[in-house]
Amino acid sequence: MTTPSDTPSDTAAARPPFNTDLPAFDRMPKLLTGQVALVTGANSGIGQAVAIAMAQAGADVVVNYVAGTADPVVAAIEQAGRRALAVKADVSEEDQVVAMVAEAVKAFGTIDIMVANAGLQRDAPLTAMTLAEWNKVIGVNLTGQFLCAREAAKEFIRRGVRREVSVAAGKIVCMSSVHEVIPWAGHVNYASSKGGIQMMMKSLAQELAPHRIRANAIGPGAIRTPINTAAWETPEAYAKLMALVPYRRIGEPQDIANAAVFLASDMADYINGITLFVDGGMTCYPGFATGG
Ligand code: BGC
Repeated sequence: MTTPSDTPSDTAAARPPFNTDLPAFDRMPKLLTGQVALVTGANSGIGQAVAIAMAQAGADVVVNYVAGTADPVVAAIEQAGRRALAVKADVSEEDQVVAMVAEAVKAFGTIDIMVANAGLQRDAPLTAMTLAEWNKVIGVNLTGQFLCAREAAKEFIRRGVRREVSVAAGKIVCMSSVHEVIPWAGHVNYASSKGGIQMMMKSLAQELAPHRIRANAIGPGAIRTPINTAAWETPEAYAKLMALVPYRRIGEPQDIANAAVFLASDMADYINGITLFVDGGMTCYPGFATGG
C-alpha cells in the first residue's frame, strides 16, 4: 500500500519550489508600500475611506471625483505621508477616463491598483423609471467600471510585474453591492448594474490572470454613506434596516476600506474573481432566521 508521501508526484523533487515571493506580515511593514492606487468617486462615502486607507497602507493615491471638492481627501492622504493627485472626471465618459489614467501615469509613473468605486442610485418603480434614469445608472456604475478597468489593464500589461512592490502586475477592485445577488424592487437599474459588475469582474479575472492581474469585487451591504441616508438617519429607519442585518449594526466606510486594502495587497495574491461581501450577513437571507 502506498501512502501519499510515497507517490512519485509527492516527492520533494517533484514539487514546485516553495513560493518565496508570497507575503508574510513580518516582511510587510505596510501592505501597499510603493504602490499607486487610483480610486474613483473618492471624495465621499466609501471611496473617500478607501482612498485614505490606501494611503495609510503606503500607497500614493489618485483621487477621482466628479463634483464638489477633493481637497479634504487630498489633505488626509498627505497627512498620512503619501502623495495625492486629484483628477476630476466623469467615469461614464470614455475620453475623460482615458485622460485621467494618462494623467495619473504621467504624475506617478504608473498605477498598480484600480478601485472602480464611483456609483450612484436613481431609484424609481419600474413603470415610472425613465430611460435617462436607467442609462445614467448603467453608464456610471457599469460602463464606468468597464472603462476604468480597461484603461488600468492596459497600463498593468504595459508595465508588467514590479517585484519590489507587488508580485502581481496589477489589481482591479470593483465596488459592487449585495445587490449583485439580492434582487431590489424599485431599483432595477441599480441592481442590474451591480449584477453586471459581477459578471464583468469574473470575466476580467479570467481574461487578465495570465498577465498576473487580479480582479475582484467588494459587495458592501448597508454602509453609512450619503447614498442611503434615508435608510439609517432616523431610529425607525435604522431599526427597519437592522432586520436585514444579522450582525445588527450598520457598516462603516472603514469596513469597506479594510477589505479594499486587503484585496489590493499581496496578502490576497491567490484571490481572483471573487466578490467579498462585507455586509454583516445581509446576504445570509436573515428572513429565514425565523421563517421558512
Ligand atoms: C445601496 C444602499 C443600500 C445597500 C443595502 C447598497 O448597494 O447603495 O442604498 O442601503 O446596498 O441594501
